Amino acid sequence: MDTQALKGSWQLVAQSGDQVPLFFYSALFLMYPETRALFPVSMATQRDRLVNALGHVVSNVDRVNEVVPFLQQLGRDHRKFAVLAQHYPAVGQALLATLEHFLGDRWTPALARDWTAAYGLVAKVMTEAAEESSAVTPPWWEGEIILHEVRAPGIAVIRARLNYQYAFRAGQSASVSVPLRPKLWRFYSFANAPRRDNSIDLHVRVVDGGTVSTALVHGAQRGDILKVGAPVGDRLTLSQNQSKELLLIAGGTGLAPLKALVEQVAYEGPPRGVRLFVGARTSRELYDLEALSKMEAENPWLSVVPVVSRDAFFSGEHGHAVDVALKAWRGQDVFVCGSEEMVQNSVSRLLDAGVPPELIRFDEFTTAGGREP
Ligand SMILES: Cc1cc2nc3c(=O)[nH]c(=O)nc-3n(C[C@H](O)[C@H](O)[C@H](O)COP(=O)(O)OP(=O)(O)OC[C@H]3O[C@@H](n4cnc5c(N)ncnc54)[C@H](O)[C@@H]3O)c2cc1C
Ligand code: HEM
Repeated sequence: MDTQALKGSWQLVAQSGDQVPLFFYSALFLMYPETRALFPVSMATQRDRLVNALGHVVSNVDRVNEVVPFLQQLGRDHRKFAVLAQHYPAVGQALLATLEHFLGDRWTPALARDWTAAYGLVAKVMTEAAEESSAVTPPWWEGEIILHEVRAPGIAVIRARLNYQYAFRAGQSASVSVPLRPKLWRFYSFANAPRRDNSIDLHVRVVDGGTVSTALVHGAQRGDILKVGAPVGDRLTLSQNQSKELLLIAGGTGLAPLKALVEQVAYEGPPRGVRLFVGARTSRELYDLEALSKMEAENPWLSVVPVVSRDAFFSGEHGHAVDVALKAWRGQDVFVCGSEEMVQNSVSRLLDAGVPPELIRFDEFTTAGGREP
């Protein structure tokens, strides 16, 4: 298989921008109308998610061994879209038709053979993983909302109790769908370590014009049933032998997975110093301070420091959470979570200040869905 030709041809196709997903979906829905029902009614936002991933993953088939765990997770997670094994050839056909259309004269029988083989390989890993997990886990869980509190303008804390046992690790996320917006899935991080009653906490902030975040914060209420996909991600999880002190830096709802880590240390140990810096623009946006102060009072190894950047009347720390946190850095492992901008700024500040990269773990709340390692 000529993997350079695969990559080169995808680069050429990708130059056509938005035209590519437009053509792909038209081809798919025309050739296989039964697949239309799997996709959201409105395809306006993020319609390039699947197509970008297809081109990227399939043309990088030479790295397939490195990304097998990612593809297995993606395949298992695709069950939440009601994707079945028989849909894979349909998507493969639409992909080939799209390549042929955009490559014109450059579409050769050899290239067609290589793309077919590469797609087949990726699809095989995904479908096999989906099939194996079907015997053990449901395609998604249902979680009844048992608590819904709008704690600050545009920020809600939501607790849902899941209908089956749900094994996850503190620091992980899952994609969530809300009844008001069927078939739209977005990732949210668990704000708690696993509990016996199978409940999970989510911290959701409305983004401007955001479909799912608005529905979750302003539309959802107690008694609604959320759909929750399988837990994903290992960027912020603690490894078994991780017993070092921790310095946690949160921006906005980026607090969620870091609070989960604090709970994990509280429940499982081993005991160690944990310093949590909670960044927000104004003190009104410090939506979870009451719960955090309670945890701090109960656990002598924990210190919680709120930091606000745009509130002259706040009596605590001012500025960016990372700058305040750096003053307390004594070689601890550092975890950062928040918006893309907050995480990028914080990580470069940490590196500039001499924190070794291997001590820094971070995750960003991007619009991206499944992400490669
Ligand atoms: C691994 C992971 C974990 C996440 N955990 C959380 C969490 O715990 N709490 C939480 O509040 N959010 C979290 N997010 C973000 C969340 O998945 C959604 O992206 C966010 O809620 C917006 O979805 P939406 O449907 O409302 O917006 P959309 O309708 O998808 O987008 C509307 C507009 O807002 C822009 N936009 C979308 N998402 C963002 C964003 N995150 N930042 C800035 N602009 C954006 C889009 O480009 C678009 O222009 C996480 C994201 C990832 C990848
Ligand atoms: C090689 C095969 C495939 C790859 C690499 C792939 C990859 C992806 C990725 C990365 C996403 C975004 C992740 C997310 O939102 O959780 C996605 C979304 C999606 N995929 Fe796939 N996929 C493949 C095959 C399929 C097939 C066969 C179907 C069935 C028709 C399908 C249906 C969907 C749907 C419905 C979405 C959500 C799209 C949206 O919300 O706009 N995928 N895919």
